[in-house]
Amino acid sequence: MTFLPCSSGVFRRTNLPPMEIQLVLTVIFVVVSATVAADYVRPLPRKALQFPWDLKPASYPQQVHISLAGDKHMRVTWITDDDSSPSIVEYGTIPGRYDNLAEGESNSYSYLLYSSGKIHHTVIGPLEDNTVYFYRCGGEGPEFQLKTPPAQLPITFAVAGDLGQTGWTKSTLDHIGQCKYDVHLLPGDLSYADYIQHRWDTFGKLVEPLASTRPWMVTQGNHEKESIPLIKDGFESYNARWKMPFEESGSSSNLYYSFEVAGAHFIMLGSYADYDKYSDQYRWLKMDLSKVDRKRTPWLIVLFHVPWYNSNKAHQGEGSDMMEVMEPLLYAANVDLVLAGHVHAYERSKRVHNGRSDPCGAVHITIGDGGNREGLASRYINPQPEWSAFREASFGHGELKIVNSTHAFWSWHRNDDDEPVKSDDIWITSLVNSGCVEQKRHELRNLHMIP
Ligand SMILES: *[C@@H]1O[C@H](CO)[C@@H](O)[C@H](O)[C@H]1NC(C)=O
Repeated sequence: MTFLPCSSGVFRRTNLPPMEIQLVLTVIFVVVSATVAADYVRPLPRKALQFPWDLKPASYPQQVHISLAGDKHMRVTWITDDDSSPSIVEYGTIPGRYDNLAEGESNSYSYLLYSSGKIHHTVIGPLEDNTVYFYRCGGEGPEFQLKTPPAQLPITFAVAGDLGQTGWTKSTLDHIGQCKYDVHLLPGDLSYADYIQHRWDTFGKLVEPLASTRPWMVTQGNHEKESIPLIKDGFESYNARWKMPFEESGSSSNLYYSFEVAGAHFIMLGSYADYDKYSDQYRWLKMDLSKVDRKRTPWLIVLFHVPWYNSNKAHQGEGSDMMEVMEPLLYAANVDLVLAGHVHAYERSKRVHNGRSDPCGAVHITIGDGGNREGLASRYINPQPEWSAFREASFGHGELKIVNSTHAFWSWHRNDDDEPVKSDDIWITSLVNSGCVEQKRHELRNLHMIP
């Protein structure tokens, strides 16, 4: 199968603009996907948001977002309709005064009848830690501000997957906007553009208020794929618009990479990139895991889209193949926490490995409940598996506060009538001083991860 749909009722055709030839192809794909759709009930998704037409000059920077780009650096990404607009970012620590200037690169892409604007990617830095910077893109337009993450723990992450652009998305983003956090983590499924390219642009506008102020670190989901047999490989729009620091982390693909921030090493895997033992992703993962220094980064956290531990009936078993190949590596390396999306509900596991709870395994959290138009996945396998600690089908977001080298506080906040209500929380202690590390030395050797 080349395309994994989340549901059958994917498109509301009345929402589509007229004249979209892409619609024809879309309908073909919907028909194909409907035949393999999951059977869960989705109560009351909210409507897609309306985006008023705004008349701005063609050189006006749009859809500004930032991402971490190696030690003390940040990548600023934005789009202009004007092809001659320069890829420069002016920045400094005082409003209106830009003592620094960086120049970057740009790209663009076409997708059937759609042509993107000029997509600018400019890396700025070296930047001070935990510092507010003011910046301007392309030499004009409004001033934005960002805050760099701290160099040391504590640090806080906001987590929301499967966002889309509906009323529920807005509710989730509003709640995240009320939090104090340093970095946003997104385990796949961003815009739900699903071949309709201008929806990537409206998504970019929707998230700009948050994504221009804190780094957004994302990985791909099935809704980013947008492949068309013989015409388009997958992930063209996603890769062009959401460039992540894969080069900085020795990866050859934007679909998997790693980064370090404060005391945590993050690995972003690709559920939709090859992951078998002979794949580049597998080789890269092994290499990246063996570079982790738990003295420098006592926390090891992994994100990908399709959950391995899922007791929801939606997408049941879809992650098994990847889990079979890659879980031994993550286990041997003492991964603390795995964050996934895809299933439109929330679930948290105990520490688990090989299908059973295990004090030396990772905690797995599915947080695919950001608010997309497909609605919630509310049918569960009963009885609840022994490894599953908490599950609920509601929209919401997560917050991960890593307090120090041994303790992190995880909480999940449900969108309850538009109020963020904390519904689940737990202290997670890192495996670093747990005795698991010593126990697993032979596994690391067997996997050729240490000599
Ligand atoms: C880490 O934080 C936890 C929770 O606040 C606290 O109980 C523990 O003493 C801290 N450990 C260190 C080494 O500071």
